[in-house]
Amino acid sequence: MTENDEKFSFETLALRTGHARTLEQEHCEPLFMTSSFCFDSAEQAAKRFSGEEQGNVYSRFTNPTVKCFEERLAALEAGESCVATSSGMSAILSLVMSTLSHGDKIVASRSIFGTSVNLFEKVFPRFGIETVFVDMTDLAGWIRAMSPNTKMLFVETPSNPLTEIADIAALKTIAADHNALLVVDNCFCTPALQRPIKHGADIVIHSATKFLDGQGRCVGGAIVGPKVLLEEKITPFLRSAGTCLSPFNAWIFLKGLETLHIRMEKHSANATIVAKWLHKNPLVKKTYYPGLETHPQRNLCLSQQSASGGIVSFELEGRQEAWHVVDSLNLFSITANLGDSKSIITHPATTTHGRISPEKRKAMGVSEGMLRLSLGLEDSNDLIRDLDMAFQNV
Ligand SMILES: Cc1ncc(COP(=O)(O)O)c(C=O)c1O
Repeated sequence: MTENDEKFSFETLALRTGHARTLEQEHCEPLFMTSSFCFDSAEQAAKRFSGEEQGNVYSRFTNPTVKCFEERLAALEAGESCVATSSGMSAILSLVMSTLSHGDKIVASRSIFGTSVNLFEKVFPRFGIETVFVDMTDLAGWIRAMSPNTKMLFVETPSNPLTEIADIAALKTIAADHNALLVVDNCFCTPALQRPIKHGADIVIHSATKFLDGQGRCVGGAIVGPKVLLEEKITPFLRSAGTCLSPFNAWIFLKGLETLHIRMEKHSANATIVAKWLHKNPLVKKTYYPGLETHPQRNLCLSQQSASGGIVSFELEGRQEAWHVVDSLNLFSITANLGDSKSIITHPATTTHGRISPEKRKAMGVSEGMLRLSLGLEDSNDLIRDLDMAFQNV
């Protein structure tokens, strides 16, 4: 099912897109676990290598299972095309390395995943690509940061871990005025809750490791965007740099996509219940969740997202109180991932955002007392009971 995708709903696309049944008539998408593909003759090998004849050559270039995942994710994101990558970070790396050059500039939201900050701050400048960080919700700040060399605007919405919401349409106007690409990391929402391209984003980035897999099994990523850009710039980079996705991981993600919308609804429902409980708890200084009426960009969230997502952050007095809660929980896993079917607790200041300097962390709003929850699919009563128990003796 690749033609006429427009007429199918999200749920149907998530199950059916991209799989062209083989002669074996399999029902489940086949896993092409092969590094290379055979040719009928020397002549055919030469034609495939030169591009004169279409077809698989080598799994760093194309693989049918990876292609199936790419087509399905592109359809779900309402994008023209998709390239799968070995991780979420390699999606960002591949995008920047293939579309920007020495002297180009990026404007990025200050409130993004710690490793993304490191990539922008420590890796790209060595190749002459500088990034200016701005407050995500201050549109005037984005405009002020633009320069003639700005070629990309980069944002995560909702952001990690503060769950701030960016106005995608407004950022698109700023990007278009400067002929720059607007890139949205859609990791927290997934296309089940938000389709940034429909709001004006040029490119969507994914860490498929998170909700797309949804069961904490594989690391992977993706870039969704215009066909011409992907074909002419990003795919050739991947072929040379080798930042490609393994077919096995692509197969796992395909299976994850099939249940994505159902899982995202339950993640959001559990997160809403937990956020409301935290919001009322006197030990919690602040709760960050776009589903709360008190969230500063609540209306923006309602205009861009169909639900508020599975990530809730909150602030306790300090590190001691935060670590006490982490260590007292039974049900929540202490692990660095998010978007798993199992609920997870993270102390961002010493883990995901630990490599950022204390001053920068403070400026980002990531305090020592902050904890991030990724709400899984367990019964919400059990989760609340676990939190209630962990909050004793704080
Ligand atoms: C918002 C966001 N983007 C990108 C990444 C990087 O993804 P990966 O770990 O798959 O490289 C993460 C990882 O936690 C993330 O939270």
